[in-house]
Amino acid sequence: MTNVIFASTHDTTPHEWIEPLQRELPDVHISNWADNAPSVDARFAVVWKPPQELFQRETRLEAVFNLGAGVDALFKLPGLPADLPIYRLEDAGMSVQMAEYVVHALLRASRDFEQYQVQQRQGVWQPLPDIEREQWPVGIMGTGLMGTQMAQTLAALEYPVATWSRRGKPMPGVQAYASADELPAFLARTRVLVNTLPLTPSTQGMLCRNTFQQLLPDAYVINVARGEHLIEQDLLDMLASGHIKGATLDVFTQEPLPSGHPFWSHPAITITPHVAAASLRGASIRQVAAKIRSLLNGVMPTGLVNREQGY
Ligand code: NAP
Ligand code: GLV
Repeated sequence: MTNVIFASTHDTTPHEWIEPLQRELPDVHISNWADNAPSVDARFAVVWKPPQELFQRETRLEAVFNLGAGVDALFKLPGLPADLPIYRLEDAGMSVQMAEYVVHALLRASRDFEQYQVQQRQGVWQPLPDIEREQWPVGIMGTGLMGTQMAQTLAALEYPVATWSRRGKPMPGVQAYASADELPAFLARTRVLVNTLPLTPSTQGMLCRNTFQQLLPDAYVINVARGEHLIEQDLLDMLASGHIKGATLDVFTQEPLPSGHPFWSHPAITITPHVAAASLRGASIRQVAAKIRSLLNGVMPTGLVNREQGY
């Protein structure tokens, strides 16, 4: 019988994943990772931030299924075999959550919702100036599953939207920029910068002073990708200089964000605890089960990570 191992250092209730996955795949045997246990000769692993020892113990793995879109945590594991195929989650309900998150963060700024809250507490009835969408050009970095849904959603709300990615992706109603050559032009027309890039050696630290300085004045930054994209001190400096007016951050270099970190109390920073888009259990299990079934039937599933590109 084919053995599958579930390994997550993140999840305290593994049975809530294993039992429904087992129901989807009655012909395989799924076991949970246990420290100091012998190998189960697993053919497949289903993981989210797995323990480092996984790849030393389970040496017959033919594929790994990552219960998330980003594979950066897996790539940090020293024992990950270079030729082991990794499949990531493809959307599985995440892109619509991401779009909601970014719409919320944008509207709070563009529609003055925070100011209206202050006014309510003060008992003040005072309409603020009408919204002028042209004053809120949004620039989305990354045109993958997350960036595309976001761009389409914001374009439908009639915000001026542009995207930037390695190869560029034309979409109706959205201005597309591609490659490092077009990054300066993309930044120069952007006031609200949204990051949906995967974390790789070439994207790490991209949200830095040099990037921020090229944005339009009174800029906003929304980071929903990974904390290591952002140079934290550069954001704090640019907020202090006034060039950046506010930031909404879902991801951090260190998670949970340490107590006493300046982001907790900064009046212009809104933080959330890495919840912009959750891996929804039902959708994720159905997708991983379908990919495992494909491999068992000799068909290559979609979602294979390009190891050279890092995403
Ligand atoms: P994806 O479909 O793989 O898309 C990645 C996009 O980034 C592609 O458009 C790609 O360009 C672009 N890109 C990669 N490297 C680049 C570079 N060096 N320069 C310019 N563009 C580059 O990924 P996804 O599913 O949209 O997910 C994106 C990321 O979101 C994940 O990696 C994860 O870190 C993050 N995420 C966060 C949460 C959360 O809750 N906060 C939830 C889900 C995902 P090409 O199209 O040209 O290849
Ligand atoms: C979450 O951050 C993911 O990468 O799916």
